Amino acid sequence: MCSQKKNQQTVQSPDGKLIATFFLKQGVPCYMLHKGSQTVIDTSQLGYRFKHIPAMDQNFELLEATTDSYNEAWTQPWGEEKEIQNHYNQLAIQLKNPTENLHLNMIFRAFNDGIGFRYEIPRQTAYNDVEITCEGTEFNFTADHKSWWIPGDPDSYEYLYHETPLSKIDSANTPVTFQAHDSLYISIHEAALTNYAGMRLSRDKHQKNGFKSDLVPWPDGIKVKAELPMRSPWRTIQVAENPGGLIESNMILNLNEPNKLDDISYVRPMKYVGIWWGMHIGLNTWHKSARHGATTENAKKYMDFASKHHIPGLLVEGWNKGWKSWLSGINVQNYTQPYKDFDMEKVVRYANQKGVSLIGHHETGGNIPMYEKQMEAAFQYLEDHGIHAVKTGYAGEMRPKGMHHHGQFMVNHYRRVVELAHRHRVMVDAHEPIKPTGIRRTYPNMMTREGIRGMEYNAWSKGNPPSHHTILPFTRLLAGPADYTPGIFDVLLQQQHDKRKRLVSEKNLKNRVHTTLAKQLALFVVFYSPLQMASDLVENYQDHPAFQFIEDVPVDWETTRALNGEIGQYVTIARKDRHSDDWYIGSLTNEKSRKLTLSCDFLDHGKNYTAQVYKDGEDADWKNNPTSYAIDTLKSIHKGSEIELQLAAGGGAAIRLSPED
Ligand code: NOJ
Ligand code: CA
Repeated sequence: MCSQKKNQQTVQSPDGKLIATFFLKQGVPCYMLHKGSQTVIDTSQLGYRFKHIPAMDQNFELLEATTDSYNEAWTQPWGEEKEIQNHYNQLAIQLKNPTENLHLNMIFRAFNDGIGFRYEIPRQTAYNDVEITCEGTEFNFTADHKSWWIPGDPDSYEYLYHETPLSKIDSANTPVTFQAHDSLYISIHEAALTNYAGMRLSRDKHQKNGFKSDLVPWPDGIKVKAELPMRSPWRTIQVAENPGGLIESNMILNLNEPNKLDDISYVRPMKYVGIWWGMHIGLNTWHKSARHGATTENAKKYMDFASKHHIPGLLVEGWNKGWKSWLSGINVQNYTQPYKDFDMEKVVRYANQKGVSLIGHHETGGNIPMYEKQMEAAFQYLEDHGIHAVKTGYAGEMRPKGMHHHGQFMVNHYRRVVELAHRHRVMVDAHEPIKPTGIRRTYPNMMTREGIRGMEYNAWSKGNPPSHHTILPFTRLLAGPADYTPGIFDVLLQQQHDKRKRLVSEKNLKNRVHTTLAKQLALFVVFYSPLQMASDLVENYQDHPAFQFIEDVPVDWETTRALNGEIGQYVTIARKDRHSDDWYIGSLTNEKSRKLTLSCDFLDHGKNYTAQVYKDGEDADWKNNPTSYAIDTLKSIHKGSEIELQLAAGGGAAIRLSPED
């Protein structure tokens, strides 16, 4: 450690390439970020404004600056990477405004793959708590960079991405990803979002290429209410020379606290099928009807399939009383009472017999007081029935009225659910969630979440175009796992066409999935989720040769490599199974067909592998011939071999590589 009082302080990444600079500009706290001689972030201000306290954004003096460094490996209980190196240099700054007698600290951490910084507001002589009206963090770029972003909706991340110059952004939810030039990619997000509001980036009209942090407010307009001392989440700026570098970065996880849960033996990544898609495409209903999806019979059918095909989990939606109220907008459900045609005791007995793990479902519709009243009983019910996973949902307008999905009130609610779930040995898959910021490191039962425009949109809207899948790995998925729910084989919803014809409107009948079948398989590798759904009706998987890939593909990885990728164009990811010597590859493209050559440099030295390649048929394309596919076997693939892939328009490929003995 060393300590200094100069008004300008720097901290470098361990490889010396990134340099973060903190300085006071006439008493105003500012920072900059450089990569070698290039400016990544130009002079950008820092600070806070409050309701009752003088602002903490000017008249500061630097009391002390302390540097430190850290280098340690840690093991993820599950994830895309088993061993993670946490290596950074730290700069801690203590500031004082002598006129108002106010104190503020800033902590900067410089990693090889980016920087993180956070505010700490220590206890003040005259104040014990704060009401933040503005966090004034700026992110000023050097030019009008190309950017990939979704709108800054305070209640939803379920959007398609825009690709525009950053000057076209008004407000965006993070991660927002930028391309400065061919060898400089930048992504802004946050880590360890705890007891604070979610951050959006809003364009700062006073700066040419600038953004300001914009926190989601409480109904009274305050952004964050907190007792002192308090600290903000980390503001993260990931930096990479190519788009794949962003994917391989573990900085967000590294900025979170280590696991603080005691026994996590119930935490088990798994694939699952579900009584789910039928409701979205209109064949079944959540509420009780002649077409009710969650019946004992149907659950048995799904469990028979799951057990035969080694799919460990089954999600059942619409099992509990109250779904009519969800449809009518004011959600009042009962999380301990199954509908009459769903015999929970029988279903649990059958699940045990078949070795299938049930995944419970709590749809709150956003009615938080209603859910919080029942929560303890709801999780006790899951525990009593030996159910170790739950999917939660918040689809609807928030209650109490005026609260937002991404505000401090909800950040705290989502966390309470994760903590309560742990006490009942339950893993969480949250829909309409707060975005991931790496808290899965601290709470490894926080498995996956939505916060993405997922598969369901193809069922009841114009859907997700092929390019969506080529943007998500470089934006939303940088933040953490997503329950996108891949695996629709009947991409035209054809098998159901006649039945659906009687049930859904003419308009909805045209809805479909906008990929080839092979691309659906690729998604299992490219989109990481520790609870990964094979989302189609099980009858569409029955006797389908391509289902073998879904049966084989793991959900827990030793390591991950981004082999290639251009944001919005294509991407290829290779991952090594954590529990065998197999490697898996997923490759996918946007609307354009393309040929990719993969170099297998990542394979273990001295081993030969057999590759099973699930690929688009020669005549396949997402629009006119989406289900044409082929399965190839390639022998003697080794380190240094090349695999040629021809991806159809809107297509993809999925590969399993197993060592030959
Ligand atoms: C929206 C969720 O994203 C979806 O998966 C779920 O089926 C419905 N809400 C009903 O809970
Ligand atoms: Ca949703």
